[in-house]
Amino acid sequence: MHPLLPPGFVFGTSTAAYQIEGAVSEDGRGPSIWDTFCAEPGRIADGSSGEVACDHYHRFDEDVALMEGLGTQGYRFSISWPRIQPTGRGPANVAGLDFYDRLVDRLLAGGISPMATLYHWDLPQGLQDDGGWLNRDTIERFADYAAIVGERLADRVAHWVPVNEPNVVTLLGHGLGTHAPGRAMIFDALPVAHHLLLAHGRAAIALREAGATSIGCANNHAPIWPASDKDEDIGAAKLFDAIWNGMFLEGMLLGRYPNDLRPLLEHVVQPGDGATIRQPLDFYGVNYYNPMKVAAAPETAELPFEILDVIGYPTTDFGWPIVPDALREWLIMFRARYRAALPPIVITESGCSFDDVPDEHGVVDDQRRIDYLDAHLKAIATAIQRGVDIRGYYCWSLIDNFEWAEGYTQRFGLVHVDFESQARTPKKSYEWYRDVIAAQPQHEG
Ligand code: FCB
Repeated sequence: MHPLLPPGFVFGTSTAAYQIEGAVSEDGRGPSIWDTFCAEPGRIADGSSGEVACDHYHRFDEDVALMEGLGTQGYRFSISWPRIQPTGRGPANVAGLDFYDRLVDRLLAGGISPMATLYHWDLPQGLQDDGGWLNRDTIERFADYAAIVGERLADRVAHWVPVNEPNVVTLLGHGLGTHAPGRAMIFDALPVAHHLLLAHGRAAIALREAGATSIGCANNHAPIWPASDKDEDIGAAKLFDAIWNGMFLEGMLLGRYPNDLRPLLEHVVQPGDGATIRQPLDFYGVNYYNPMKVAAAPETAELPFEILDVIGYPTTDFGWPIVPDALREWLIMFRARYRAALPPIVITESGCSFDDVPDEHGVVDDQRRIDYLDAHLKAIATAIQRGVDIRGYYCWSLIDNFEWAEGYTQRFGLVHVDFESQARTPKKSYEWYRDVIAAQPQHEG
């Protein structure tokens, strides 16, 4: 039995510019921090980069046709800031805007509602050279960029996400250094989170001024499980939960930070910041992949917590535990805790990496992805029955793509991509998702 969602529920797919577009030097695009990071030896598992990726910049027509074949009603993509402002400041590069204009028109012609992310991690290198997200001035630059894009596209883009996963940018990009810009600053990375949240708020204001009517977010949330019921593990899990989840959702929904973190942020928070961050949201986007288990670290360690493997569950080929129940429970808790402050939820990313490739008949039998998506959609359907208002599901990802520090070694797509020939082969999960969409109840009247 296919998962059944309420009438009007939006099925979509999700991608990001640097992961699929390629064409990094075309039509005036400037370098981004990911171009720089990939060029540093040892940063990317297979030594690759997004230089060509899925060549989506030249093949977007074919890729939108794949979405039409699925029958999806929505598509979440990101706009590459260095295509719009090659150095991150100054006038718009018209050729860059034109690309997204064509993409949006092509989506609309296919009956697909566009959801655009402004920042999915590809900061113009020119801004990084001046301190990047550690520099409060980057927020002003981001507001300018949001205004440029909004003025050009707000008449046709249905939904907007200013910043993708500010927690990942903070922790992996600046805390641990496994993502661009590769800074390992541990707790000194926290100002980045505050600046990204302010950037979210300022961009939301600029987009609304430009006529945007649906503005949300795409925050990565993971249920945090303490490793045991010992006080120190529970305390470590609570602190990590505040850093991974709490500061972003409470920042955006309530305009304040969890108590545990306030002392760590006092020196960067200025009067009025909370109000700037807390903008009215038309939807709250959740990117969900898996729960995390946290224990207290030994006193000598650099960090007060340790992330342990969640054991006892199947895993994806990335090693991520598959726990759809944790999504259901987290959504129910989220609603119970924030009730009136919480707008409708959209699952802006959910998906899994499995390395299935075409067999001798050209068939990609990725039953494990079908099982994953089926279980997660059913978890969402149950959460809706329990009163959580969830309006859509954007599967990560439409096509296999450049998975950041893992390069091309992790395949998340409903469609297989041969990165030599750029051939696209819909997997079994693509057919399954198409059938799920076709089986949904229709709107009445
Ligand atoms: C998310 C990112 C997305 C993709 C998935 C697997 O954290 O937003 O770009 O890499 O993970």
